[in-house]
Amino acid sequence: MKIFRKPVFTGFAPNLTKSDVSIAAAFLFFPWKWPKLKIGKNTVRAEQWLKNYFSTKHCLAFDSGRSALFFILKSLDLKPGDEVLIQAYTCVVVANSIIQAGGKPIYVDVGDNFNIDCVDLEKKITLRTKVLIIQHTFGNPANLNSLLKLAKKYQLTIIEDCAHALGIKCENRWLGTFGDAGFFSFGSDKPISCGRGGGVITNDETIAKKLFEFQSSLPEPNLIKILQHLFSFLVFDNAKPIYNLGVGKWILWFSGKLKLINKIIYPEEKRGQAVGFYPSLLPNCLAAILLNQLSRLEEFNRHRCEISGIYQKQINNQKISLPNPENFAIPWLRYPILVAESTKLLASAKKNGIILGNWYDAPIAPKDADSSVVGYQHRFCPNAERLAKQSVNLPTDISISRSDAIRVAKLLNAF
Ligand SMILES: Cc1ncc(COP(=O)(O)O)c(C=O)c1O
Repeated sequence: MKIFRKPVFTGFAPNLTKSDVSIAAAFLFFPWKWPKLKIGKNTVRAEQWLKNYFSTKHCLAFDSGRSALFFILKSLDLKPGDEVLIQAYTCVVVANSIIQAGGKPIYVDVGDNFNIDCVDLEKKITLRTKVLIIQHTFGNPANLNSLLKLAKKYQLTIIEDCAHALGIKCENRWLGTFGDAGFFSFGSDKPISCGRGGGVITNDETIAKKLFEFQSSLPEPNLIKILQHLFSFLVFDNAKPIYNLGVGKWILWFSGKLKLINKIIYPEEKRGQAVGFYPSLLPNCLAAILLNQLSRLEEFNRHRCEISGIYQKQINNQKISLPNPENFAIPWLRYPILVAESTKLLASAKKNGIILGNWYDAPIAPKDADSSVVGYQHRFCPNAERLAKQSVNLPTDISISRSDAIRVAKLLNAF
């Protein structure tokens, strides 16, 4: 019976480990740790860790990936009307950051690999185009050779959006180090996670100087938000194993209602507005969890490759298309498949206690975000719209065992 089977999730704090929960609980319940909730040495240690790992000159931590992108763009001194190229099949918070930094997002269609399409990109370049954001969707490296050539030809600043891609190499070089700056997300569903966080890496002195100025003038993180993030670890740790019994679902719903846990995207953001409590510094307590997660980054990525390999080998339903088999060995953040009846597949999996992912269910996701306020109109990017309708993503995170992956593959084959 479904209720007695281990639930399989694609989201819901997928990277959460027992040691992260212990760190969160210590910050919540040991009063001698309270003075170090907001500020302490962990944030600088995390920045140092990333700087060493990527061998870049600079790394700066922020409260999120969206704030990291906002500050990179601010450091470029965009003038009104300056255009920023960005792929559709992205998240609304990315578009918000562009607008809030004074830029105009120009949406480019994607190829079937979920990444920006170079032919459509060149068509959308104008005299006002200043920046190209390269998103490595689901961790799959974008077509860097062509994109770098185009950026050089049209003198565009390159920002790599590595929100889905941490610790991945392309032609022996880290994603995040190809452009003028790269940014990461440490949000709850990302390659590694401290609840909410982000970081920038850059070798560009002008960008770095401005970023340091912005960072040093940021307010301390909001205490309520910090507590919500810490509580989320405890809530998800307790609710996930009993989710199929119904109790876990109730705990999550009730914790949300009581505002014990945070939201990934706030309603204001879905309407294109900023929220009052961000941007801020990355809290010291979340940086402690980040360091713990970073220590397992390579293990997590190896695991993602292994689970993706199982999907690649075992899914053989003709109604389902798999991503390019050449990319077998990449640690997909979520393994993306395409299926005409995606909503039906999501519902049928749910009935079997398997919650599959729906990234991205709209060209400017999530579906309930108002994409018109960020300048996207229906039919701008037809392929992104088709992918949004057909894509379903499978979990690859550390909590997914080989037998879970086989169970998912069997369910898909029977669909
Ligand atoms: C492709 C992409 N870039 C950037 C971000 C922003 O990251 P964060 O949630 O840390 O602000 C997201 C968020 O979901 C994303 O999907």
